[in-house]
Amino acid sequence: MMYDEPDLRPNDLSAFWMPFTSNRQFKRAPRMLVAAEGMHYTAQDGRQILDGTAGLWCVNAGHKRPKIVEAIKRQAEELDYAPAFQMGHPKAFQLANRLVDLAPEPFTQAFFTNSGSEAVETALKTAIAYHRVRGDGARTRLIGRERGYHGVNFGGISVGGIVANRKMFGTLLTGVDHLPHTHDLARNAFTRGQPEYGAELADDLMRILALHDPSTVAAVIVEPMAGSTGVLMPPKGYLEKLRAICDQHGILLIFDEVITGFGRLGSPFAAEHFDVMPDMIVCAKGLTNGVIPMGAVLVRQEIHDAFMQGPEHLIEFFHGYTYSGNPMACAAGLGTLETYADEGLLSRAREIGPYWEEALHALKGLPHVIDIRNMGLIGAVELEPIAGEPTKRAFSAFLAAYEKGCLIRTTGDIIALSPPLIIEKSHIDQLIGTLADVLKGLK
Ligand SMILES: Cc1ncc(COP(=O)(O)O)c(C=O)c1O
Repeated sequence: MMYDEPDLRPNDLSAFWMPFTSNRQFKRAPRMLVAAEGMHYTAQDGRQILDGTAGLWCVNAGHKRPKIVEAIKRQAEELDYAPAFQMGHPKAFQLANRLVDLAPEPFTQAFFTNSGSEAVETALKTAIAYHRVRGDGARTRLIGRERGYHGVNFGGISVGGIVANRKMFGTLLTGVDHLPHTHDLARNAFTRGQPEYGAELADDLMRILALHDPSTVAAVIVEPMAGSTGVLMPPKGYLEKLRAICDQHGILLIFDEVITGFGRLGSPFAAEHFDVMPDMIVCAKGLTNGVIPMGAVLVRQEIHDAFMQGPEHLIEFFHGYTYSGNPMACAAGLGTLETYADEGLLSRAREIGPYWEEALHALKGLPHVIDIRNMGLIGAVELEPIAGEPTKRAFSAFLAAYEKGCLIRTTGDIIALSPPLIIEKSHIDQLIGTLADVLKGLK
């Protein structure tokens, strides 16, 4: 299939300041995607590119899914926009209900946002406000984790722990501490699934609580599996320990499931997969299959109910976005959840996971590979950095894989893979085979 080439004279690329991109490198040799269907993108030169990353960890049902496309088309004809404050429209309530049905039992309300970053801010604000409405307003401190990624807004980068995302932006939020990250190549390299070692890293929370007194701490936020930093699995027993310490001290536990939500590990949410229930779940990405931006925070009944007090004509929570529960996003969300249910996609990673695991770990021994890790339909291959030039080796792998028809993602010197959940064995063979060729050719 051929596509009309838009007018892309060199200068036409300059107006768009691209996010998280090496702009000058890209604009010298652009990688343009012009269409997508199922497991594939079509590049502007007509090549089919196998999507090894579900876009940006979000297109869980694959591309151009009929129910989602239809839902959006119908919604645009029927109701394009409705005010989000003091007014409602049916699909926002329907989607909240479907979401709560899908979530583990304790979660009974959903607050809608437009992205993962906004959902993170919403969860952090909810935590602090929750303690205050209960008369426990001294609990304002937030605890995140080194290497954590919670989006790019000020709250998210404050609790986040990715240095490059923080260091340029001043003092950030005050009253924030960080747990140590859990990456331990010396003890856990080439682990399949959850690593054996590192549960004791959760005990550092006790040290932080002793320093500030637990009565000052509102919430702990972690990704149950840290995705953007390069796919770090929680050590066995680690999340359970965090839960127990939070329970002991009246601290809310927030799981940022922007990546792990919607089937990535083989369950609708990682909370179920690990059998550890937080107090709030942050989600986005797979909620609408990436098609229309949307995020959500799922809360327990007692958190929601704590706000429902005072005269009924008063707003209970002074927070929300013009596009919270936007009709188009809700339609996309409903179409997405229906597609997941029709095709059993939220447990598919469990079925194909063993094949994925074998294929991925067969890369062990190839040049520069210092670790391989996997869970559900996610995987990472960590490379030895080039001395003095961190990130360069993995970036070269990304460019080479794209040339060979596969989209992978890199962060630092880690290659991350997170294909759509509709992936078949033949696609896995192609993706991992291409990666093997790329690794053999790397300097
Ligand atoms: C765990 C986590 N939280 C938050 C975000 C931010 O989401 P968004 O880019 O939609 O703002 C991401 C994005 O990758 C994420 O992985």
